[in-house]
Amino acid sequence: MYNSRISGLGFYVPENVVTNDDLSKVMDTNDEWIQERTGIRERRHVVKGTDTTTSMGVKAAQKAIERAGIDKNDIDFIIFATLSPDYYFPGPGVLVQRDLDIKTVGALDIRNQCSGFVYGISVADQYIKSGMYKNVLVIGSELHSHGLDMTTRGRGVSVIFGDGAGAAVLTREEETTKGILSSHLHSEGQHAEELSLIAPGMGKRWVTDILEDVDSGEEDTSYFPYMNGQFVFKNAVVRFSEVIMEGLGANNLGPQDIDMLIPHQANLRISQFIQKKFGLSDDQVFNNIMSYGNTTAASIPIALTEAWEQGKVKEGDLVVLAAFGSGFTWGSVIIRW
Ligand code: COA
Repeated sequence: MYNSRISGLGFYVPENVVTNDDLSKVMDTNDEWIQERTGIRERRHVVKGTDTTTSMGVKAAQKAIERAGIDKNDIDFIIFATLSPDYYFPGPGVLVQRDLDIKTVGALDIRNQCSGFVYGISVADQYIKSGMYKNVLVIGSELHSHGLDMTTRGRGVSVIFGDGAGAAVLTREEETTKGILSSHLHSEGQHAEELSLIAPGMGKRWVTDILEDVDSGEEDTSYFPYMNGQFVFKNAVVRFSEVIMEGLGANNLGPQDIDMLIPHQANLRISQFIQKKFGLSDDQVFNNIMSYGNTTAASIPIALTEAWEQGKVKEGDLVVLAAFGSGFTWGSVIIRW
């Protein structure tokens, strides 16, 4: 029986910082509202023509591979989680294979939004535990800013999301008491449209209709993300709690055993709710949404990398990753570092 451990981590965010005050110049919002409701102070936005979802993922991956101490051609499989791919198809997994010039290994794209990285880690872990692969590269990357409604109409969504990428290399471990102990995944498609981007999608309408509409002068808002914020919030706090408890319970552990909880950076208020519910100290929960906003599939690998870089994730620690998002989908990963 093999186990998998995270042998390398990396993240990349574009240089361009967009503060709440910057947003208030293009829409009716303000720093106080955003900070009070979400905890966000600033986020990064890609400057047009510079990075893409793939290029950010590649930069994060290069760091993770270097830190894993392996050659890029030691990678046996690529997993890429995003809701903002460069192309409708093919997905960015193959673009990473091309741009990193890795040999022709398999590349899988994951469509699980905020839970994408947790799903990706779970898939990678199963491949490694089964003995099929030795090193799996898992990337979460998002370029939200080009697709947001940056007017007052879109302010309930657009102030929350930011751009960036994070990556991890998972490596086969002979010792079974360390590494990824378990992962727990869920979905509830009943609420699919509560946090969604309906177009482009073949279920939306025929391309010929879109062409006919071009001259109608009406803006099609289904190309912007929609979020029923309060409904998402209520579900998130319940599902986060459940799936963390499920993961701990499966390993005969409790909240008191957590050394570091890395929640998906959805909203600082959600993280604080979970922290309070489990009686965790500030040292046991890592948050960086204040600086990057919600980067969806990238948020956990960015946060995990920063926590590790700051020495807040150490050998022997019990690290818990937890995510909730569009789908709805949610999940947790329990790691003995
Ligand atoms: N700036 C200023 N005012 C804003 C605003 C903004 N950016 N966005 C919305 N408002 C206004 C609304 O128009 C509304 O005004 P009204 O009362 O005059 O109608 C008021 O603020 C309250 O809006 P509401 O949507 O009820 O706010 P809220 O308290 O629910 O907070 C969220 C909105 C999005 C911050 C909150 O619902 C949330 O965090 N939800 C979870 C989001 C999340 O985690 N998503 C990712 C999941 S992975």
